[in-house]
Amino acid sequence: MTLLEQIRTRRAIRKYLPTRVEKEKLLMIQEAGLFAPSGSGLQGPKIVMIDDPELIQRIGIVNANAQPRSAGGGHVSTDQPSIVDDMSIKSGFYHCPALAIVTIPKSWKGLVNCIGDAFCCAENMILEAYDLGVSSCIVGRGEDTFADPSMQSLLKEWGLEDYLPIVFVCLGYINGKYPPIKPRKEGRAIYIEK
Ligand SMILES: Cc1cc2nc3c(=O)[nH]c(=O)nc-3n(C[C@H](O)[C@H](O)[C@H](O)COP(=O)(O)O)c2cc1C
Repeated sequence: MTLLEQIRTRRAIRKYLPTRVEKEKLLMIQEAGLFAPSGSGLQGPKIVMIDDPELIQRIGIVNANAQPRSAGGGHVSTDQPSIVDDMSIKSGFYHCPALAIVTIPKSWKGLVNCIGDAFCCAENMILEAYDLGVSSCIVGRGEDTFADPSMQSLLKEWGLEDYLPIVFVCLGYINGKYPPIKPRKEGRAIYIEK
């Protein structure tokens, strides 16, 4: 598949097998995140890769309850229901066996490019994962999740007390059939020619 074909066919997956993802693949996905572009080339984000389903479940439960579930409003997916669609889902990480957490320096909070930096890392990682046959889903609420006192000790344990988690990437092998391409809304591409 060409890169564009991969970009077109990749989907957010929220149903995972308990099968662990190979360490070599997780390291490649993490490296893809590190090679993301960053504002002024400052390479601010640090990426934590967690290969521990129990720990992921613990953080995921806090994540699912970090904001009111209806906050964004509306419906997300029937085939791959999100925590907004299905209130019975306990973890905001959908019981994925591996998880990447993209953090930025705390002192950068509010600076214009820091959130963009974090999401560029996440995007690189979901594409690398797809290329490796690993499914993924970007999940937000990083700051709110780690505002919970029970989560602060983890950052300390990881030597990241001066970092702020922004975004998560759930990783794992899909449980079920991969969903088809999601059609794009009309009128979103404007092409200016001389
Ligand atoms: C900025 C951002 C935040 C997202 N946050 C969540 C989230 O908290 N939970 C979730 O299940 N999916 C989340 N997603 C995944 C989107 O819901 C998903 O990409 C979207 O529904 C389109 O589906 P597709 O990726 O299959 O095309 C997020 C995606 C982005 C880009």
